[in-house]
Amino acid sequence: MTSNKKLLILPGDGIGPEVMRQVYRVVEWFDRKRIVRFDTAEGLVGGAAYDSAGTPLTDETMAQAQAADAILFGAVGGPKWEKLPFAVRPERALLRLRKELGLFANLRPAIVFDPLIGASTLKPEIVRGLDIMILRELTGGVYFGEPRGIETRADGTRRGVNTQVYTTSEIVRVGRVAFELGRKRKNKVCSVEKANVMESGELWREEMQTLHDADYPDVELTHMYADNCAMQLVRNPKQFDVIVTDNLFGDLLSDCAAMLTGSLGMLPSASLGEADSTGRRKALYEPVHGSAPDIAGKDMANPLACMLSFAMMLRHSFDMTEQADMVDAAVRNTLERGMRTTDIMQTGTARVSTSVMGDTLLRELDKLA
Ligand code: IPM
Ligand code: MG
Repeated sequence: MTSNKKLLILPGDGIGPEVMRQVYRVVEWFDRKRIVRFDTAEGLVGGAAYDSAGTPLTDETMAQAQAADAILFGAVGGPKWEKLPFAVRPERALLRLRKELGLFANLRPAIVFDPLIGASTLKPEIVRGLDIMILRELTGGVYFGEPRGIETRADGTRRGVNTQVYTTSEIVRVGRVAFELGRKRKNKVCSVEKANVMESGELWREEMQTLHDADYPDVELTHMYADNCAMQLVRNPKQFDVIVTDNLFGDLLSDCAAMLTGSLGMLPSASLGEADSTGRRKALYEPVHGSAPDIAGKDMANPLACMLSFAMMLRHSFDMTEQADMVDAAVRNTLERGMRTTDIMQTGTARVSTSVMGDTLLRELDKLA
């Protein structure tokens, strides 16, 4: 039995806490079965932290995050906090965690589960068997570039500024992650930018190609403009394996890719930092769906994206491939049994609550243990 794996759980706002509750049950299940024991701590983040401490992320929670082996994050935000000043909005917590933990590599898989094929708005033949990975650069680009701000000019009108900027090292480190991921998948990487209009895009393209030629000639590398990529994602998404792109394009394209699956409630993500000398990376795992305030507290939310994020954590932070496969299989089997939360409801299936979805998943895990 392995122990002392430090896990920080940040359920956050909206449906975050209720989907996380189901993940807790799985954490306890692993403990009960003596497969793995996590050393768990829980903290407030987002609006919940603002309400209690006046900031979306306290320095204490930030310190806990620094010390954790992995962070499980629910969701942040909601109408209650939308009018707050920019600096204390719930989303700032996420951006601070990303930046201060150096989580530059954001893995956003878009997978179509066969039983859910009808949930996609695209034709079944376009999305059947879809399994692509969007790798989004997460700590650079226009999200963090300086100068930034809103200034008032002499004539009283205002000017809003953000800066898109990338350096060689920022491009190369995310490029390496892309090629390594490609090698474990179908060995295809498509690098996406706007080299036709942006210098930062031109640099991105050149550095990706140089890195490829030097260290990853065995991986197939193609380049694509971001606007074309958006179009190709809905035209013929199965042409892609790994897509690597910058922070802003990655934000947009991953939402687009997510919707190919028709079920935002099913998609996990991982945000990883640089590997240290022992190969360990700082890491945060998070379902792609937001806080969904409209259904929060109603026991309606789909806990499977959070569950799959937990599986990604087992895989990427703790090298527990077998256990990660078990959780993934339990999710698939739960779907095969016709269990559906409202977001993925189809005729002929059973609409169940968040907690019943959790019950079913635990039963499926029992069968696999
Ligand atoms: C995401 C979200 C965030 C982003 C927001 C909540 C800050 O849209 O993770 O994709 O823009 O990165
Ligand atoms: Mg987004």
